[in-house]
Amino acid sequence: MKHTKIKDLLNSTKPIDDVTVKGWVRTFRNNQFLAINDGSVIHNIQAVVDFENTAPETLKRLTTGAAVLIKGSLTESQGAGQKFEIQAKHLEILGDSDAEKFPMQPKKHSLEFLRENAHLRVRTNVFGAIMRVRSVLSFAIHQYFQEKGFVYVNTPIITGSDAEGAGEMFKVTALAFDGTPRNEEGKVDYKADFFGKETNLTVSGQLEAETYAMALGQVYTFGPTFRAENSNTSRHLAEFWMVEPEVAFNDLDANMDLAEDFIQYVIKYTLDKCPDDLAFLNQRLADEEKTKPMAERSELGLLEKLNFVLENNFKRVSYTEAIEILRNSKPNKNKKFNYIIDEWGADLQSEHERFLVEKHFKCPVILFDYPAKIKAFYMRLNDDAPAERQTVRAMDILFPGIGEIVGGSQREERLDVLQQKIADLGIDEKELWWYLDTRRFGTAVHSGFGLGFERLVLFVTGMTNIRDVIPFPRTPQNAEF
Ligand code: 4AD
Ligand code: MG
Repeated sequence: MKHTKIKDLLNSTKPIDDVTVKGWVRTFRNNQFLAINDGSVIHNIQAVVDFENTAPETLKRLTTGAAVLIKGSLTESQGAGQKFEIQAKHLEILGDSDAEKFPMQPKKHSLEFLRENAHLRVRTNVFGAIMRVRSVLSFAIHQYFQEKGFVYVNTPIITGSDAEGAGEMFKVTALAFDGTPRNEEGKVDYKADFFGKETNLTVSGQLEAETYAMALGQVYTFGPTFRAENSNTSRHLAEFWMVEPEVAFNDLDANMDLAEDFIQYVIKYTLDKCPDDLAFLNQRLADEEKTKPMAERSELGLLEKLNFVLENNFKRVSYTEAIEILRNSKPNKNKKFNYIIDEWGADLQSEHERFLVEKHFKCPVILFDYPAKIKAFYMRLNDDAPAERQTVRAMDILFPGIGEIVGGSQREERLDVLQQKIADLGIDEKELWWYLDTRRFGTAVHSGFGLGFERLVLFVTGMTNIRDVIPFPRTPQNAEF
């Protein structure tokens, strides 16, 4: 039986005689007004039930969460709050929902409670809105790169290399858990494993993407990545989605231009396509802000914040300048930071990143030219820096409320410099023979970056915990569902 989406009915320009709707009951008031949602739009449609001609047993089954089919006519609504409603002529309960047991009651639940019910939380307004926005954002990402002629590359999920050299990887093995068989040295014999070598879930598709950029020119990946870092924060997931463009012949400035243009495009696209969901999330954030003390409230609302990013250039600041700003900042002098900045070379913590973005510059910031020591092996060494202050052509984009949203760099294209770096870090060059081939055959300047998709969704939805912007979050001690 053909049914119409609630979104289309609410957008109708005229009454319609015969319509069929299928969805889930949100509320049932006065034995008469049934609010139904089908996920197509944040709004419910109201069906007016002819209770005098409906069996009392059926009316009793119209409980929150029940799946229903309604046939009737779409008429202009008398009541306030909606333009159209359905005068129900036929009503069927497709699936009952025990009102006593259904966890999603028609009331405000805490986000913690909803996380424990991640399989049902998407039936709430907030999570419906977040997940529709997430979907539109991912489409916008493809649209942006496809319009610009980038090739979408699917890099492997199972890899034999550690792209970030940080060792925060999940092992992939088909061996027994007691670690047998062993080799002569008593170590696990990975030659006997499925792939004949040690493998892990990818932390980044960058290295493989670089090889493709050196043939196809402009490429991007968009897929799941995995990190076994034990960071139990509101911005870290063990499984997250990353977008990684990689462009031949781009230097770091062109890389920054690309990142800025890309982020502005996808936010603009989503503002255009999701006005209702974003209006709802804007209000949700405003309500949440009201519960905070004045001093902690953010100056801008969600929509204002999104428009601010579209209308303002990101501020580009070198690491060295940033360190000076931080060193002289009030929280540093008053020892309010957990990590006091006293020396050039210090790695920035999220408290420092957020100070720069939220308190000092009050706009998105691109930090560049980081100390070589705190960045990955593949980043291009700056030739003009003094030996004790070696820097690399790295860039991190910092966003208000988020901290780091993008990490990227110009890549080291010189074979000898890259080999030296790999040796200095004690990485086995043999593991990276294929990566080094890009530098052996037709090497060229190239750059790329990685954008953490969930951090972008956090920013666009105004949510504060990354566990609330991915359907089924994976974090330390948590892999339910
Ligand atoms: O800064 P990262 O580690 O950079 C890379 O992986 C590079 N290979 C990217 C590249 O140049 N192609 O990660 C990139 C971004 C971060 O800026 C952050 O937004 C996100 O990925 N990210 C995480 N998001 C959620 N949970 C985590 N545990 C994350 N780790 C990084
Ligand atoms: Mg990073």
